[in-house]
Amino acid sequence: MRLVGTSDASTTARTADGPAGPRVVVLGRLPGDAVERLRARHTVHYRDEDSTAPAEEVLRLVSGADALVVTLGHRVDAAVLDAAGPQLRIVANVAVGYDNVDVATCRERGVLVTNTPGVLTDATADLAFALVLMVTRRLAEAEREVRSGQTAGWGMFHLLGTSVQGKAIGILGPGAIGLATARRARAFGMDVLLSGRSAPDPADVRALQARVVPFEELLASSDVVSVHTPLTPATLHLVDASALARMKPAAYLVNTARGPVVDEAALVAALEAGTIAGAGLDVFEDEPRVHPGLRERDDVVLLPHIGSATIETRTAMADLAADNVLAVLAGDDALTPVG
Ligand code: DGY
Repeated sequence: MRLVGTSDASTTARTADGPAGPRVVVLGRLPGDAVERLRARHTVHYRDEDSTAPAEEVLRLVSGADALVVTLGHRVDAAVLDAAGPQLRIVANVAVGYDNVDVATCRERGVLVTNTPGVLTDATADLAFALVLMVTRRLAEAEREVRSGQTAGWGMFHLLGTSVQGKAIGILGPGAIGLATARRARAFGMDVLLSGRSAPDPADVRALQARVVPFEELLASSDVVSVHTPLTPATLHLVDASALARMKPAAYLVNTARGPVVDEAALVAALEAGTIAGAGLDVFEDEPRVHPGLRERDDVVLLPHIGSATIETRTAMADLAADNVLAVLAGDDALTPVG
């Protein structure tokens, strides 16, 4: 028996005689037993590495795939779809955001795209609010001080931050994660403003005692602006120089959504000019690169895109992606199709 297209011992055999049923290609290491469950039913090529495969390797690996399971760093565009071939039925993205997948081209070619909504809402909202506290209370700066051995300890005016109680958080993009972040903010005594393309459920607005306001009002009235919009052509650089200029000089920007929603060069300029007070960022315009003007600033907290990074959440994401593939290859409806 000859293994085709791989030198990886973790690969289920695909014989030179032809495919042993639908072929599933999994690009990226997954926690839990998602891959085992796929293997129980299908021929699986598993790229068991926690890194993004180089583009040329992706083109080689996807050849002949009926289903692709892709982690976030992997782009699925026309070239990948061409390399996969016309039998491809589903691209299961292991993330809720799917700006890495060319959904329009998938649709044109009859390839279904799925994502992982719901299962990462709490983990990401926890991290968003952690960033709110980190940046307003200067926690990263304080931790660096202790770690460096440079601290003089307690001081009346030492590392003074600002309180969140009684302040307003503006949720830009009141979807599931935005609303979950707003609930955490309410628990910390913050007022909630909401703004986005689609109107939130009135019951959520009432429960949060929130106000739905236009984008400009949210910017001007919030003490913390927390970004939760998906990345689309309409939200690319939504928070640009003019949006930042509308914010209060004492306000903070938090972004746990997608880096390109914020114009990073404009953010650096705004921080340098004192247009806003600071930023907490889990995502960047050109990940994993971070603008050098951000790295050197104490009023900025930088995290490496870990919003959903708990073992429970990542396992649930992997499970949902696998379940989508299993359903579609069995001829059933996808659980969480995109669009
Ligand atoms: C998502 O799911 O879109 C997150 O950004 C990755 O965990």
